[in-house]
Amino acid sequence: MNSFISWVGGKMQMRELIVNRFPLSYAKYIEVFGGAGWVLFHKRKEPWEMYNDYDARLVNLFRCVRERPEELIAALDDYPLNARLEFHDLRRRLKDGNGPDIVQAADFFRVIRYSYGSKLRTYSAQPCDISAFYPVIRQAHHRLKTVVIENRDFESCIRQYDAPDTFFYLDPPYFGTEDFYDAGFTDADHSRLHDMLCGINGKFLLSYNACDFVRELYAGFRQEEISRVNSLGLVYNAGAVFEELLISNYGAVDKMLFLGVNRLRPHKNAQKHHKSDG
Ligand SMILES: C[S@@+](CC[C@H](N)C(=O)[O-])C[C@H]1O[C@@H](n2cnc3c(N)ncnc32)[C@H](O)[C@@H]1O
Repeated sequence: MNSFISWVGGKMQMRELIVNRFPLSYAKYIEVFGGAGWVLFHKRKEPWEMYNDYDARLVNLFRCVRERPEELIAALDDYPLNARLEFHDLRRRLKDGNGPDIVQAADFFRVIRYSYGSKLRTYSAQPCDISAFYPVIRQAHHRLKTVVIENRDFESCIRQYDAPDTFFYLDPPYFGTEDFYDAGFTDADHSRLHDMLCGINGKFLLSYNACDFVRELYAGFRQEEISRVNSLGLVYNAGAVFEELLISNYGAVDKMLFLGVNRLRPHKNAQKHHKSDG
């Protein structure tokens, strides 16, 4: 199924490819940088799943969808104006952070939907019928019912839940695009994430932009390079191709070959971090 929001860096286009590279067996699934949760909504339902994101407004919205979808829909119905002045008013209200959770969730949902490229900052001036999203909000409510929702920095999330039978899917802010996210992310955070992943007992699959910084940082792990055409690129820059990296610490290599992947970059030290995949 689809996510109920769009989000900068959302993995709508890559979700099938990513899910196909999950390990064969694990007991707990954790999406550490949840965003819109495109991968979570696409994967099959499993007994133990967690959505985490550091952005408290996003986490509040996910919690309201899980717990009180009809109240959220009523709040969305309450203030349906899609106009520049109201957009900036909504942004101000969100910044103040006052008001009931449901109102804040509805405000945040509208700002996502009315902003250019879902970047939350500028008014898109596009037609948008908020009520068209009510069915997907209701579907998401059912899907999220058994999903644990956390609002933590990635390090404490990974530290708390790491275990040999845990599988982490991680989609951090891409190198060079950190400013898109209000949660913020620095070079030190990229290194902190790497250091954290080097020592875990569980399995991880990490998606990143393919650039030298990331290739070198994760030189000891399995790396698969993937080319994809960006959807915005189709509109503004026909044929724009983006290189993505999928990095893992488990034996996904056989699955990748089976799936006919274009290029593999297993590093000479990859065995150091290799964990056999069930
Ligand atoms: C690339 S987006 C994830 C997109 C998501 N995979 C999807 O399909 O929509 C990265 C996410 O990381 C979150 N984030 C930024 N810093 C974080 C941190 N220190 N810990 C956890 N999440 C963080 C951002 O709020 C953002 O939602």
